[in-house]
Amino acid sequence: MRLYLLGFMGSGKSFSGKQLAEKFGMSFIDLDDFIEEKEGRTIREIFEKEGEDYFRKIEKMCLLEMGQKEMTIISTGGGTPCFFDNMKWMNENGVTVFLETSVEVLSNRLFDEMQKRPLLKGLSKEELKHFIEKKLEERNPFYHQTQILYQQNLEGQDVAEELRRYFFRMI
Ligand code: S3P
Repeated sequence: MRLYLLGFMGSGKSFSGKQLAEKFGMSFIDLDDFIEEKEGRTIREIFEKEGEDYFRKIEKMCLLEMGQKEMTIISTGGGTPCFFDNMKWMNENGVTVFLETSVEVLSNRLFDEMQKRPLLKGLSKEELKHFIEKKLEERNPFYHQTQILYQQNLEGQDVAEELRRYFFRMI
């Protein structure tokens, strides 16, 4: 069983994914970390030196490689479901959960850590909000192909615990 956590940057996929994996006694993998390890450099360096197209190819390759893992929660990158047939592939090879997060929550969280994220480098707070709104418009058609939609409109929701209860009710 593989569970893919999907969502925009800052939606807490890795944070909640790790907690959920612990609750279920499953393994956890962060796709971005896996890519960085494989490439021996940071995502930011990959974007800067090779460009986004190269990154998306590596991202897809790593996603397919994870298709071998059993009992694993995989936290994907914010753009992973939106390139190639990645979304369809994840739906066919595991359970997909989209952490839908409000623009308010996303922009507050992302403002403090923009330098780490190549797509956000150098934006003002106002520009960041516009960027998120525009990107979500493009990406929502992919995100909404998810099997499970979890809505996060407030800071401080215990995502992992709520998802744990959700899955227990389903069994
Ligand atoms: C990206 C999100 C990042 C990372 C890369 C591109 C995106 O992952 O994969 O910087 O296109 O939204 P996180 O969502 O884990 O930050």
